[in-house]
Amino acid sequence: MEPGTYRYNAEVVSRSYHYNYHVRQNYAHYGIFLPDGTPVGCFQLKRMDESRKYCEFGIILQNERWVNQGIGTEAIRQGLSIARDQFGMATVMGDTSSRNGRMIRVFEKLGFHLVESVKDAFFLVNGQPGDRLVYEIELSTMQGAVNE
Ligand SMILES: CC(C)(COP(=O)(O)OP(=O)(O)OC[C@H]1O[C@@H](n2cnc3c(N)ncnc32)[C@H](O)[C@@H]1OP(=O)(O)O)[C@@H](O)C(=O)NCCC(=O)NCCS
Repeated sequence: MEPGTYRYNAEVVSRSYHYNYHVRQNYAHYGIFLPDGTPVGCFQLKRMDESRKYCEFGIILQNERWVNQGIGTEAIRQGLSIARDQFGMATVMGDTSSRNGRMIRVFEKLGFHLVESVKDAFFLVNGQPGDRLVYEIELSTMQGAVNE
């Protein structure tokens, strides 16, 4: 993520929205909301490959105010259910930096397993390197189906 202050630009946001929602056919985007409707983040299923039944996911909560409350874990759990039940995916992949302990913990909680580690593939804004950790989950083995 960019470390600087985000400056809203309606034209750039509209162009991005159009591309993500109307051009990229194998992507699906979802907002993450609290029960009272407050928007707190977003989740994407990315590069969904129908023949391999394989896709990636991405998630980001809006800011530190919302982290460590179980929201990310629950959003991913629901997203995995959607990948399986609505898009017929069998395997979902996610990656993160070895320095992102919170995301690693979320992968572990959800039952993902580490399939690849690429040394020094990511750099923090302060220049510190981190390994790229690639995780996968077989949706057939997913514990505790969502919406049940
Ligand atoms: C990563 C992210 C999606 C996780 O969602 P979240 O709602 O904060 O996570 P949860 O509250 O569901 O779970 C966090 C877990 O990590 C643990 N944790 C927090 N910081 C940690 C750290 N530095 N090292 C290890 N574990 C940590 C928490 O204790 C919790 O585990 P527990 O339930 O066993 O106590 C969210 O924090 C986020 O959007 N971060 C910024 C963007 C990002 O990193 N996206 C992922 C890029 S791949």
